[in-house]
Amino acid sequence: MKNSKPLASTILFIFGGSGDLNQRKLSPALFNLFLDGLMPENFSIVGQGRTKYTDQTFRKYLYDGIHAYSRRKDENGDWAEFSKQISYLPGKLDDEKVFKKIGQIVKEKTDEFGQDPIVIFYMAVAPQLVPDIASKLKELDFCANTKATRIVVEKPFGHDLKSAHELNTLLSSMFKEEQIFRIDHYLGKETVQNILVMRFANALFEPIWNRNYIEHVQITVAETVGVESRGNYYETSGALRDMVQNHILQLLCMIAMEAPVSFNSNEIRNKKVDVLNALRRINKEDVASVAVRGQYNSGWIQGTEVKAYREEEKVEEQSKVETFAAVKFFIDNWRWQGVPFYVRTGKRMHEKTSLITIQFRPAPNYSFPEEATHTWRPNRLTISIQPEMDIRLRFQSKRPGPEMSLHPVDMIFNYKEEYGGAEPEAYETLLRDVMEGDATLFMRADQVEAAWRVVTPIMEAWEKREPVDFPNYQPGSWGPEDAEALIARDGHNWININSAKDTKEQKS
Ligand code: BG6
Repeated sequence: MKNSKPLASTILFIFGGSGDLNQRKLSPALFNLFLDGLMPENFSIVGQGRTKYTDQTFRKYLYDGIHAYSRRKDENGDWAEFSKQISYLPGKLDDEKVFKKIGQIVKEKTDEFGQDPIVIFYMAVAPQLVPDIASKLKELDFCANTKATRIVVEKPFGHDLKSAHELNTLLSSMFKEEQIFRIDHYLGKETVQNILVMRFANALFEPIWNRNYIEHVQITVAETVGVESRGNYYETSGALRDMVQNHILQLLCMIAMEAPVSFNSNEIRNKKVDVLNALRRINKEDVASVAVRGQYNSGWIQGTEVKAYREEEKVEEQSKVETFAAVKFFIDNWRWQGVPFYVRTGKRMHEKTSLITIQFRPAPNYSFPEEATHTWRPNRLTISIQPEMDIRLRFQSKRPGPEMSLHPVDMIFNYKEEYGGAEPEAYETLLRDVMEGDATLFMRADQVEAAWRVVTPIMEAWEKREPVDFPNYQPGSWGPEDAEALIARDGHNWININSAKDTKEQKS
């Protein structure tokens, strides 16, 4: 979606600069862009936060992050050069001096660069702080330049439809839509971007990509980690808000959208909004039959004993928050009428995997002798987003031998084998896009609200009816039994990564 053209001079202010996101994701991403020669020739990164760092101690904090989290470390001593462009601006957000200083820094850097820079404000802060920061920024003179000023807003974007709408209204009263970059980091993943290429750059898939040939679609985003140190946030969120409203619905849009007329950012986003708008509204009374929630218990995962969600730090002892969600969606349009889309996500699950499965309908007619078809399976396309990165197409072959026996085999495209495993991290792609001003991989205001609309009935039904069986799944499992029942009722079963790989498995 982008070319490696040189970028204009850029200043990047990171609010929440002393936080986790910057240390784990943003700074490693910027450093990797630097190593690849993809940063602007003139750039400056300013971390803003309450912690009392100096420029030196801040750089050290980020350097530790490079060692712990970056896909490439500082093997050739490039950090020294890169970190010269990093500084720190300490202070509380209600301190006017912080914003005055931002104005000064922009002025100084403009003189130093000899041109007006692109100024980016990255909100790596708690969502409730965003409106206040945005209003203060708006008062700075240079923010009137809509071509050169950008604001990046992390998820969660709102807590529900109402708050997301209010935040959109507020931001759009201060910034133009093209200045606002709402991040969903899944869209920056190489394997996710590749879905559009696979679908629309190949003539092979489009003719069969519809209800005539596809029986159902599954999307699994499973994690083995628990809630980690984020109990505070997660207690206000849960799996539906944290993963389904954003990452999973975005994956679903990529699978279900119509072909864009061009690769223009608005065109692609229009096509995605069409999918969200076509998702069948779930009646509150029907929620119990199409959605399942779960919460992890204490137990063992991969040889380690782990706490129950309710025993995690900053989590209520009787918390009703779900750490697992599964939903069955339908898309009411010509292409997808009647095709179920099953999605599920959870923490403390059996393995870390993000997997999309396109299950094709069985062949209409078996002309083979019955004994030949015992191992016969319908065609299936599996797209592994992570940590495996591959695409597998399952089809039938003849097992060698004198007898006619059918046997499913996989045709595999593996990223590592093909490209050597040096794919950029999602945040590298996304930060580079912000610097370029390309909003294709970011959420537009109407997209975020349409996604909230989709999950609202589930949220409301769950809030009204407290779960009585929490905790209801064991760490290391695939979630609560009800999630199996959700899909089994339709005669299917969830596809897991190992069963996707194993063409000999008997089920499905
Ligand atoms: C974040 C969620 O958006 O995505 C986290 O807030 C989750 O709860 C994370 O762990 C998963 O991202 P990834 O890239 O590791 O799949």
